[in-house]
Amino acid sequence: MKRFFHLLGFRLFLGVAVTVAAATTLFTMFLVDWQSGKYISAAQQSATNISDLISRSTRYSMLLNRREDVYEIIKTIGKEPRIERIRIIDKKGIVNFSTQESEVGKSVDMNAEACIGCHSTGKPVVPQNDPTLTRIFDSPKGYRVIGVITPIRNDAGCAASSCHAHSASQTVLGILDVMIPLQEVDQNIAQFEQTQIIGSLLLFAVLTGFVSIFIWRMVNIPVKKLAVGTQEIVKGNLDHRIDVQTNDEIGSLAISFNQMTQELKRARKELTAWTQTLEQRVSEKTEELRRAQKHMVQIEKMVSLGTLAATVAHELNNPLEGILTYAKLLRKKVGRGTPSAEDTQEMIGELTLIADETARCGNIVKNLLLFSREKVGEFKDSDLRFIIGQSLRLIDHHLKMNNIISEVKIDEHPVILYCDAHQLEEALLALEINAVEAMPAGGTFHIAVKELTYLNAVQIDITDTGTGIKEDEMPHIFEPFYTTKKDGKGTGLGLSVVYGIIERHSGSISVDSKPGIGTTFTITLPRQSAPQEPGASPH
Ligand SMILES: Nc1ncnc2c1ncn2[C@@H]1O[C@H](COP(=O)(O)OP(=O)(O)OP(=O)(O)O)[C@@H](O)[C@H]1O
Ligand SMILES: [Mg+2]
Repeated sequence: MKRFFHLLGFRLFLGVAVTVAAATTLFTMFLVDWQSGKYISAAQQSATNISDLISRSTRYSMLLNRREDVYEIIKTIGKEPRIERIRIIDKKGIVNFSTQESEVGKSVDMNAEACIGCHSTGKPVVPQNDPTLTRIFDSPKGYRVIGVITPIRNDAGCAASSCHAHSASQTVLGILDVMIPLQEVDQNIAQFEQTQIIGSLLLFAVLTGFVSIFIWRMVNIPVKKLAVGTQEIVKGNLDHRIDVQTNDEIGSLAISFNQMTQELKRARKELTAWTQTLEQRVSEKTEELRRAQKHMVQIEKMVSLGTLAATVAHELNNPLEGILTYAKLLRKKVGRGTPSAEDTQEMIGELTLIADETARCGNIVKNLLLFSREKVGEFKDSDLRFIIGQSLRLIDHHLKMNNIISEVKIDEHPVILYCDAHQLEEALLALEINAVEAMPAGGTFHIAVKELTYLNAVQIDITDTGTGIKEDEMPHIFEPFYTTKKDGKGTGLGLSVVYGIIERHSGSISVDSKPGIGTTFTITLPRQSAPQEPGASPH
């Protein structure tokens, strides 16, 4: 039912049906009312006619004051089957005569249904223009009765008659009350009513039938076709056409809809063609870009290789030049013959310098090898506490020499990491050496290990109270060969090696430093069970 109610056709039908029902009901009521009035008027007319007849037939007997004759005439007329009762009531309300003999001589109840019409105010009212008074009331026998009252006036002839006791001032002598049963009239009304109701129902059925067929054909079917059409469009079927050939608004809607579908189809075709062209263009451009990028990478490789080669050459050239100079000098000195004790002392100094510079070259080469090593070494589960302990043991001597207090904050239980322990130790050592070198006048060195359970990672903080890093140096510290250390004390490869190692462990490294206060390097290492793709980046 709810589904039906949402149908446009059903709503229209309902509206029309309600309107037709209301109209036919009102029309039927009006007709029945009108017809009833006609029937009642006819009955009233009939009673009035009888009153007239009585008045005219009894006038002569009344003038002669022959009451018996008057009553006999009325009795004879009252036998007419269509007359309920005829009676004469005098001014005092006493029934002088009645076809219903039992009430003769009795006083009329002024509150009775037949009398209340005129005596409601207590004083009888006799209409001047309408000499008859009509009322309808229920008889004790169970049917309706119409009563017509005609005043018996004291006309001139009567008042002048010698036999009469009525004075001329007395205008109304009494009333003639003629009552007619409405049984037949009511039957006719009921029959008329019944016929009208049946007729109205038939009219209603025929009208609503016609209207529903009309709505079904003119609204339901076209609207359904439109709905099916839109569904087809939603499904993507743009070849669907709506077959509604009416000349009304729905017909034009269907035509517009079909045109719209056609336009949509054309637009979609254009769009598909555009998409294809675009895709082709994109793939062509992508290919172009890929080629260009490859070329760029190649160029970049060449450039960085060139830069690296130049930097390495420069870095190696300085110590090698020194080595060469001292080697030449020594050869000269040795060529002069047996050296004196003083020369020997000098030569030993120069040989030491050669050894130092050679060691520096070795250092550069070793770090370069570490830096360029792409492949990971031996990965296995190792305890981070052990790795840190190892690295600290190696710089223990330096710490003591430089008056540095070291603090290590690490959990009691093993912190197992899947890593290359040797490389990790190398990275920690490089950071620890940097910290020591940043505190030439002593200070505090602090290592803290935190387990980041929510990230399934481990964080290592290496803090010193050294010189700190200046803001303008910060972006360069991870660059290979960047060093602020004078007199060839640093190669500038330490942090680049650290960065490479952390990256190979899929971790990250960041630095926080304040010049004059100190520096903290923070390493985060995931607790993975197998090495991941490199993804580390300095922050
Ligand atoms: N803890 C630190 N405190 C202050 N400055 C630092 C610290 N660590 C690194 N630096 C700065 O970063 C620079 C680069 O460090 P890196 O370890 O790469 O090279 P290096 O220490 O100079 O030489 P190398 O480590 O090769 O002997 C350093 O020269 C120094 O200026
Ligand atoms: Mg260093």
